[in-house]
Amino acid sequence: MCGIIGYTGGRPAATLLIDGLKRLEYRGYDSSGIAVLDGEKLTTVKTVGKIAELDKKANGGKDVIGTVGIGHTRWATHGVPSDINSHPHVSANGRFAVVHNGIIENYAELKSELIAKGIPFASDTDSEVIAQLVQYLYDGDMLTTLREVCARLVGSYAVGLISTDDCGTLYATRKDNPLVVGLGRNENFIASDFAAALEHTHDFVQLGDGEIARLTPSSVTFYSSNGVRIEKTPFRVDWDISQAEKGGYPHFMLKEIYEQPKALTDTVRPRVKGSSIVLDKIALDTRNANLIEKIDIIGCGSAYHAGIVGKYFIEKNCRIRVNCELASEYIYSNPITDSRTLTIIISQSGETADTLAALRLAKKLGSHTIAIVNVVESAIAREADDVLYTHAGPEIAVATTKGYTTQVAALYLVGLKIAKLKHTLSDARYAELLDGILALPQQVRAQLDDVAGIKKYAKRFAQHKCVFFIGRGTDYAASLEGALKLKEISYIHAEAYAAGELKHGTISLIEEGTVTLALATQRALFYKMLSNIKAVQSRKGTVLAVASAANSEVSEFTDGMLVIPDCDDDLSPVLSAVVLQLFAYYVAAERGCDIDKPRNLAKSVTVE
Ligand code: AGP
Repeated sequence: MCGIIGYTGGRPAATLLIDGLKRLEYRGYDSSGIAVLDGEKLTTVKTVGKIAELDKKANGGKDVIGTVGIGHTRWATHGVPSDINSHPHVSANGRFAVVHNGIIENYAELKSELIAKGIPFASDTDSEVIAQLVQYLYDGDMLTTLREVCARLVGSYAVGLISTDDCGTLYATRKDNPLVVGLGRNENFIASDFAAALEHTHDFVQLGDGEIARLTPSSVTFYSSNGVRIEKTPFRVDWDISQAEKGGYPHFMLKEIYEQPKALTDTVRPRVKGSSIVLDKIALDTRNANLIEKIDIIGCGSAYHAGIVGKYFIEKNCRIRVNCELASEYIYSNPITDSRTLTIIISQSGETADTLAALRLAKKLGSHTIAIVNVVESAIAREADDVLYTHAGPEIAVATTKGYTTQVAALYLVGLKIAKLKHTLSDARYAELLDGILALPQQVRAQLDDVAGIKKYAKRFAQHKCVFFIGRGTDYAASLEGALKLKEISYIHAEAYAAGELKHGTISLIEEGTVTLALATQRALFYKMLSNIKAVQSRKGTVLAVASAANSEVSEFTDGMLVIPDCDDDLSPVLSAVVLQLFAYYVAAERGCDIDKPRNLAKSVTVE
């Protein structure tokens, strides 16, 4: 996913931009570049490859003079990674430089139109069409021009722009792609996310879709899509930059695994007042809880897996039908939903294109939407009817860990709240579950203090080509996330199966040495799981159980066991997740994989 940084102030822009891009490296990219204005002189340096290449080409910024500029890390969508396809793109007349995140869906049509009008193009990208369109439509007023340009664009964009006609000024606009404005002291910033500017300011404004920001060193003015000046409320991001750095861990992923006790505490604790659950400003009361006929939970990847855990929890404890849908399927399924359906949208980044599209569709069809999101003021957070933030802090590793477990915890809170409102649980059971949720952080803490067993098995199984994850009930839901974690960072083929499904085909794949991780935390299903484990073993498969100490008898039937703390069966997916995150991490470490930036993956998929 691309990254944007922009600066206008009194300091040399080039080094600030390059440093800002370094803080965006985690987002994944294949090229980068900066453009800086010194009076009317526009200097652009851009290159395929890592930011270290850019730094070298710009001689550490020394060769690029000026105090206003834009920078970009590119994740190619149109046009191969190359110097010329890197951003910033400069208009043919050399007066406008643009950086862009997103996809311009009608770029080909616009490009032919502009070429026919005599404007030459240099690159194969969709993004360049923005720079050339600015040149073509520019009438001396950049605000009018930008509005006209945006009116011609179909697709998603976050754009930073500088112009030789408007020295010292930086423009920004966006649609369906995140862009924040950082408010400094006699200097201001734009960035695709806080990390790029957090070293210089903690005060930000989220730019809304269609809005335009005009930044000078001493002022920032905002305009609505119809050109009216608007006031925006700044908010404070209390993440310090060290949070966005590794803090001494070898990888962001391990740091974030170890941040889960705090992330879970920060997500749960502020919402429990005595024996009551207070879900911020979410409009859930007895009346509307009893009007809910079904719940749709929608997400992608791990967010979807969190939704499946939520499904099992809510159906069991609230006695409401819950559908868990992949966002990319939901948006084209002509979904059956209306005001009697509560839709819960799950997204760590709050910018996933498929999930955002699902949110918009659910709203359009009349469903009330609650977003469970980690990034403050992200598109999904702002567009949902209600939002319940997971206070996990910045999650940098592509493979989500604390983002997932805090999503599950948030779903537990929503489910327990609804159960209370609908009186579907006895007071005793309600209290038991609430205490269990509150106990999760210290149970995770205990898990993290003893990872020797996990490391041992990870080392033993690291060279296997295929690993199965099986479970029943909520263990099946947890096994889906375990399989995704392993495959996305170790590149081992991993598949999760409902344990009862093995006999319907999959077991044909079990042969001597095939590794199966069997999640056996559900007491009520324990003996069913045992028979599935024996079925695998009888075919000479190797079985590693994931179970609590209370079910430790399972170790008599397996080749090993990863123990989780005793907990309520309904809440075990959080603890299983921690074990399976660490298992995946240590397998990937053993295989020398690029753990924080796995091949082909981006942290947030902001294109469909
Ligand atoms: C999980 O490790 C992956 N990074 C991916 O599946 C992710 O969960 C998915 O893309 C959804 O992202 P979101 O939560 O930011 O919407």
